This record gives sequence, structure tokens and C-alpha cells, in this order.
Amino acid sequence: MKRVFSGVKPTGHLTLGNYLGAMRQWAEVDQHRSDALFCVVDLHALTVDHDPARVRRLSRQAATLLLAAGLDPELCTVFVQSHVDEHARLSYVLECVATDGEMRRMIQYKEKAARERERGGSVRLSLLTYPVLMAADILAYGADEVPVGDDQAQHVELTRDLAVRFNQRYGHTFVVPRATVPAVAARVMNLQEPASKMGKSDDVGPGIVYLLDEPDVVRKKVMRAVTDSGQDVVYDREGRPGVSNLLEILAACTNGNPADLSGVYESYGALKKDTAEAVVELLRPVQARHKELCADPAYVEEVLRRGAEKARAMARPTVDAAYRAIGLLPAAETGAVTGAVVSAAG
Ligand code: AMP
Ligand code: TRP
Repeated sequence: MKRVFSGVKPTGHLTLGNYLGAMRQWAEVDQHRSDALFCVVDLHALTVDHDPARVRRLSRQAATLLLAAGLDPELCTVFVQSHVDEHARLSYVLECVATDGEMRRMIQYKEKAARERERGGSVRLSLLTYPVLMAADILAYGADEVPVGDDQAQHVELTRDLAVRFNQRYGHTFVVPRATVPAVAARVMNLQEPASKMGKSDDVGPGIVYLLDEPDVVRKKVMRAVTDSGQDVVYDREGRPGVSNLLEILAACTNGNPADLSGVYESYGALKKDTAEAVVELLRPVQARHKELCADPAYVEEVLRRGAEKARAMARPTVDAAYRAIGLLPAAETGAVTGAVVSAAG
């Protein structure tokens, strides 16, 4: 069966972008059709300025929301990255395959590093090497497919390059994965700044719909979305980014097509109203399930414990194989060492 791996960073509250661009596909499609693993990638949350208590809280919340969004631990493996050592073990080996130049070409690194420098802050080395850790996440499990939003496509491309390079140099070890990006809403834009992605890292954002926003908050945010000059509802991501974003969100919520929907509306107001209601309805069951799960933290903890155990067993053989292939001396088994000592003494 096909293997699927994907992850979400606990750097902020999860958004409608995370849901439409990634999580919904994981719950509705991937877990049913493949052997799938979904991971709260907490090590990745340490690549930017962070508060330890907040990362811990957001990791628990992200795991709970993954289950609330419909991931079923009977069908897939849900776990936390730092609970499985193989990610960090493999990441180092892949750093010996990746180059400094290719890391510095990553768009997300360039953007985030520039933002950090503008603020007068320093850039963590882990921000530069982050895509290698992401490659390790994927390659450790031999994933064939990586369902992600559009912003992660470049990192999956790098993962492919590293897998091919490693296999060529050291012998076939890794499956070469590919990204699967949803046809609609692969890049949900900020409602107030439709030229930028709806990212979750800023905490309060009038242009960001969080999965746990109350219905009235969702309505207010959508109704106040920035639209474009002009009156007619046209689907044109370049020329009319604000309206096109709303059409994409509505299409994703109703399983429709943004270009077709543009013909249905004569005013921005009507489009916003229907989009707001569609988002409220989309989030309703997720929020209800989240509330139930919050009342039972022991259940979530147990799911994560079992998930990490399963994940560890899956990753170990591949990471061990990579260690051997690249030239690291295998550690002797405890039994074998004792035997050697006994025979030397004898
Ligand atoms: P992150 O929040 O960066 O950890 O992203 C987790 C997943 O959600 C990744 O697959 C992202 O590509 C996806 N994602 C995040 N933001 C958006 C967005 N605004 N639109 C579509 N997908 C997104
Ligand atoms: N880098 C991804 C993001 O910011 C999160 C991530 C980490 C990931 N490891 C992954 C996604 C492995 C897919 C597969 O969204």
C-alpha cells in the first residue's frame, strides 16, 4: 500500500489555510487510501523565536485538532515528531548530503530570515537547515506521497533531490516522494492582505480565520475581507486576488469550482455572506469534536503514545540502513560484545 506522510508545525493556532490546504485531504482521502502518518512537527517550531510553554500547549492543541478534523488512529498514525528520535538522527546524515547553497535558495528561508533581520533579531541556524529535517521526516518513513499546501512544494522538491543524490552515491536506500497539492485552496490568502498567505504565526489577525474561531468571529472576518476595486465577481487570482480568494474558499467548502461560482454572484456582499456561512458550517463539526476531545486529554495522550511507538518501528530500519550506507560503523549488539570479551579473555 502507498505510504503517505505529512506534518503541521505548532507555531501558532491552526487556520482555515491549514485545514483546506492540507488537513482535510488527510482526513477525507489519505487515511482511507494509504498507510498514512501525520505528525505534529514540534522540532520545527524551535527554528524561530519561541516560548517553551507555548510550544508545548500548541503541540497538544494541534494533535487534538488533527483528531477533531477526522484523523482516525485506527486508520492512520498520529504522533509528535520529538517523540521519535529517528527524525533527528536522519537529519544529520542528510545534512551531509545537502549543500549550503541549496539551503540558502529556499524561498521560505529567504523570507523568514529577511523578516527576522528587519526586526533586528538573529536567524537561528536551524531555520537554514529546517528543510533537511523536513526531508528526514519524509524519507525516514519511505513515504511515496506528501500532501501539503502549495508553500511546501519547494521543500518536497528538495527532499526528492536529496533522496536521489543519496541513492546514487551510497546505494538505493530511500523512496523518492512527491508532493500532492489540492486542486482548489492550495494557497489560502490572508483576508486582509490577499497578496500574502494566510499564515498562522501571527496570533491575532483580522485576516486569519482560526479553526477554533467562534462562528460570529468567522462571519466578521469574512464580511470584512478586503475585496478588489471593481464591482463584478470575477475569478482571476492575479488581477482580483481578494475576490478570487473568497471564491476559492467557498468552492473548497462546497466542493464547487471557483470559476463556475463567479458566475453565480452579482455582488461582493452576497459572495461574502455565503462564504462566511460555508466556513462556519465547515468548522462546526471540527469545533464540536475538539470540545469533546479536550474533555478527555488522557485519550489524546494515549493516541500519541501509541502513534510514536508505531512510527518508531517504521522509521528505525530505514534510518539504520542510511547509517550503514553512508559509512557509519554499526554498533555491536550487546550480546555480541559480551561474547567478544569472553573469547578475548579466554
Ligand atoms: P504549517 O502551518 O506551515 O505547519 O503548514 C501545515 C500544512 O498546511 C502544510 O501542508 C502547509 O502547506 C499547509 N498550509 C499552511 N498555510 C496554508 C494556506 N494559507 N493555504 C493552504 N495551505 C496551507
Ligand atoms: N515544513 C512544513 C510546514 O511548514 C511542516 C512539515 C515538517 C512537513 N515536516 C514535514 C510537511 C514533512 C510535510 C512533510 O508546513
